[in-house]
Amino acid sequence: MHKLETLPTDDKPRAYAELEASLRALLSGESDLVACAANTAALLYWSLPGLNWAGFYLVEPRSGDLVVGPFQGKPACVRIPMGKGVCGTAAAQRETVVVADVHAFPGHIACDSASNSEVVVPILDGDRLIGVLDLDSPLPGRFDEADARGLEALVKVFVEATREPPGTGSRRPREPQHGTGRLR
Ligand code: SME
Repeated sequence: MHKLETLPTDDKPRAYAELEASLRALLSGESDLVACAANTAALLYWSLPGLNWAGFYLVEPRSGDLVVGPFQGKPACVRIPMGKGVCGTAAAQRETVVVADVHAFPGHIACDSASNSEVVVPILDGDRLIGVLDLDSPLPGRFDEADARGLEALVKVFVEATREPPGTGSRRPREPQHGTGRLR
């Protein structure tokens, strides 16, 4: 069982460093995208104070749209076209977007009327856009540059965990190797 630690609230860089270590441990040994996204969303939602939604929108290769993935919070908009809303903007620009007041963001897509601020981090594996990580808060101005940098570091951990080992056609961990390794 994963134990949730109480994070320091007065020192965001330290809190994110602790969260990064927790996420690394939580995702260790598993590369399945849905499993890793589900546990990442749960860890963030239950560790960071003042959130009402934490989760993923993943790129649907066929349409290029962002489609809702694993999350914690109220049911959300299913499909966001690239370039639309805060999520689509972060995805199209491939840059983290911090919004202090979502009501002042042109084209903001309101999934929960309780949300007042938001941060969206693009998830990139090299040049390939996998999706975005989206956090919402009922508190105005909940997210700042320290959150942006901390979440970007967590997204890196997520991408490393979900990357298949090169040259393998499967996401399954390799069987333990026995014997001398010599061919008989
Ligand atoms: N507010 C987002 C939509 C997703 S929900 O917040 C979960 C946006 O404007 O893209």
